[in-house]
Amino acid sequence: MTLRRLQVSDFRCLQSAELEFDPRFTLISGPNASGKTSLLEAIYVLGRGRSFRTRHIENLIRSGSERFVVFGEADLTERSVGLGVEGSADGMRARMAGERVSSLAELAGVLPVQIIDPEVHRLIEEGPARRRRFLDWGVFHVEHRFVGNWQKYQQALRQRNAALRSRQSRLAVTAWDGELVRLGDLIDQARDAYVRDLVPVAQQLGMSLLGMELGLSYRSGWARDTTLESALRASWVRDEEAGMTSVGPQRAELAIRLDGAPVKDRISRGQQKLLAAALLMAQVRLFPGDAEVRPSLLLDDPAAELDSERLLGLIREVSGQSVQLIVTSLSAEFEAFGAPGRQYGILGGVVRAF
Ligand SMILES: Nc1ncnc2c1ncn2[C@@H]1O[C@H](COP(=O)(O)OP(=O)(O)O)[C@@H](O)[C@H]1O
Ligand SMILES: [Mg+2]
Repeated sequence: MTLRRLQVSDFRCLQSAELEFDPRFTLISGPNASGKTSLLEAIYVLGRGRSFRTRHIENLIRSGSERFVVFGEADLTERSVGLGVEGSADGMRARMAGERVSSLAELAGVLPVQIIDPEVHRLIEEGPARRRRFLDWGVFHVEHRFVGNWQKYQQALRQRNAALRSRQSRLAVTAWDGELVRLGDLIDQARDAYVRDLVPVAQQLGMSLLGMELGLSYRSGWARDTTLESALRASWVRDEEAGMTSVGPQRAELAIRLDGAPVKDRISRGQQKLLAAALLMAQVRLFPGDAEVRPSLLLDDPAAELDSERLLGLIREVSGQSVQLIVTSLSAEFEAFGAPGRQYGILGGVVRAF
């Protein structure tokens, strides 16, 4: 059901590390710059095929090395699966159960990871792309087909944009519209249904973390009162001028309000963090109970910054029996979740079992 073992080579400051995780709660402690966040990042990369700290693979490769390798073993209900990610100047490649996987998204099906780290407020503060990824992770775990639809949509979109950029005829450009509309509607419906389910859960968590009314509304990426088909037709002049497609699910947004007002630029950093944590926890709570996997929740130094008393209480409540917690802390005596089933210390990138 959870991540059981992890092996890391040449990832950030970690030359070589091997850990086993408790299905409930593992604690990793060490001083600043010892490699705590890097360890969580390695787990995240294994489950998501991307980092939460950087878009550049070179940053993840230990200085002086040519590639990093992260290997893990995940216990599912009835079987265990080995999964690995390797990163080099050529990009990232993943393997699962010994086979190359064609899409990094396949990793998420076996190792759903969520992280709450000191940068969690970026979910609120940054542009819509981060919130789309947030949304799509949740949608994917309810409906695995979603990724395939999204990838096919993006292929068609790339072709349409290439045709626009090279100033091809309107006929050649709009030849892609049928495919865009078919897939775009599927993507839109799946996202819309997911947000509907997310709203009450997020509302409840928002109230208990912030004491405020949290509102979420999903915007599809084209005008509300039209179909994608007519939105594409209506945006022809703009698209032709810009050399790219300006409507569609690639422009969707998850708009967030607190007590009725849009949150961006209006709430404190502390509130942003709690709000982002509430959204992530809502996703964890909404995770389908009948799935073969359970989410692993990575908490990077939760005692440090957030209004930790309330947050930790909430995480305790939400995670119950069904979430694997992997937590880092400056102190080895971190007691918010009781006694860890396994505990490690880390110093200068070297991991030791307690
Ligand atoms: N690609 C890299 N190669 C080698 N060291 C790195 C790389 N990227 C980051 N580091 C170093 O790793 C150290 C540990 O970072 P981090 O995991 O953020 O520590 P912690 O979370 O314990 O404070 C930092 O000193 C940083 O300079
Ligand atoms: Mg850190």
